[in-house]
Amino acid sequence: MHGHWSSRAAFILAVTGSAVGLGNIWKFPYITGENGGGAFVLLYLGCVFAVGMPILVSEVLLGRRGRRNPIATMAILGQEEGGSRHWRLVGTMGVIAGLLILSFYSVIAGWSLAYALKSAVGSFAGTDARSAAFEFFTFTGNWKALLAWHAVFMAMTVFVVAAGVQHGLERAVRVLMPLLVVMLLVLVAYSARYGAFEETLVYLFKPDFSELSGESMLIALGHCFFTLSIGMGVVMAYGAYLPEGTSIAASSLTVVLADTVIALLAGMAVFPLVFGNGLNPAEGPGLVFETLPIAFGQLPAGSVFGTVFFLLLTFAAWTSAIGLLEPAVAWIVERHQRSRVVGAVVVGGLTWLMGLATVLSFNVLSDLRFGRGTLFQNIDFLASNILLPASALLITVFAGWIMCRNSSSEELAMGSGLLYKGWRLLSRVVAPLAILVIAFRAVGVI
Ligand code: TRP
Repeated sequence: MHGHWSSRAAFILAVTGSAVGLGNIWKFPYITGENGGGAFVLLYLGCVFAVGMPILVSEVLLGRRGRRNPIATMAILGQEEGGSRHWRLVGTMGVIAGLLILSFYSVIAGWSLAYALKSAVGSFAGTDARSAAFEFFTFTGNWKALLAWHAVFMAMTVFVVAAGVQHGLERAVRVLMPLLVVMLLVLVAYSARYGAFEETLVYLFKPDFSELSGESMLIALGHCFFTLSIGMGVVMAYGAYLPEGTSIAASSLTVVLADTVIALLAGMAVFPLVFGNGLNPAEGPGLVFETLPIAFGQLPAGSVFGTVFFLLLTFAAWTSAIGLLEPAVAWIVERHQRSRVVGAVVVGGLTWLMGLATVLSFNVLSDLRFGRGTLFQNIDFLASNILLPASALLITVFAGWIMCRNSSSEELAMGSGLLYKGWRLLSRVVAPLAILVIAFRAVGVI
């Protein structure tokens, strides 16, 4: 990876490709359901714009300033600006969080692949709420099937990372992302016509703050980092190839808006079916897989739609999974002088094995509960709600406090106007405080 992005649009597409994934379509609806709807959505939007967005800007800014891989960038900038190379640990933490996330991400992407096939052979024809739930229950009950689909998806990811394909990805994102949006719009239209749409709008947009706990705040915060792919050095790595003179703020805003719109559309497709069929919104990770097949089962040409939809979802997950695997592989290649193929196969293989914990959480070990719940829930919590906020905190503190004012204003090229002051206020005060307060609340200190 050397040189520059061919255009600003290419950079935006790459970051959007990593941002838009299972986080938007699978995770956002189910955690919204588990945390009571509107108040959580509002909190999530607040986190995205007041905390996520300034940190996204900071991460791109650090990347373009350092122009190296994330660990080297943090080491060099740390020394130049802050007198300590220990800042490289931010990069290391990101790599670890990425592998933990990938270990469950690939399992869920495997479900999506399996559902594309199920839809293609007509399994959803005439599906109602009960049979969809039953189908999901039987499918996830079979650990061998889950492990096999997880293997297929991981192999796809390893294949691309090993080959180091960049251009194919860019082109694919350009075509597939708009298609995904169109499919979501079709589903929203279906849900508006046949589901409980008004109830959904009230549920999603009329906040009831009594539903919120300190824990929900931590989940909203963690998800804002998860969905924007912040805190793992990936955005930093992409930022390293952004030409001088491209507006970091405008590019970041575009990514944030695209990501948010897709998540909200997913919510508007899923919840009308939940309420219309008397399902439980707090159903958990199976929510999307138990609701959307109902729509596909009734729509004309539903099996075609269903297949296309789950393929698109798999594809969105694929572009994200590549970004999750890449940093660890780059590290192995640079640090231990192995080929990309060896690096990708070794890291991918180990992550696949780690995924066994998630696979078994839905069947054999579903009764094993501790901490946050099942093994899968604990891995997700550790990565998304502890590691990501921690490294995001370090990134924003570094960009806002350690880095000198001249460097950041030069990189952001916003002059010393209101925009720059706004970013500085958010990244120096609002974002760090929000992260600390939310973290302390969640552990019960405040
Ligand atoms: N943003 C992705 C999603 O919402 C998941 C993700 C988190 C990610 N961190 C990442 C993807 C880093 C690529 C790189 O599904």
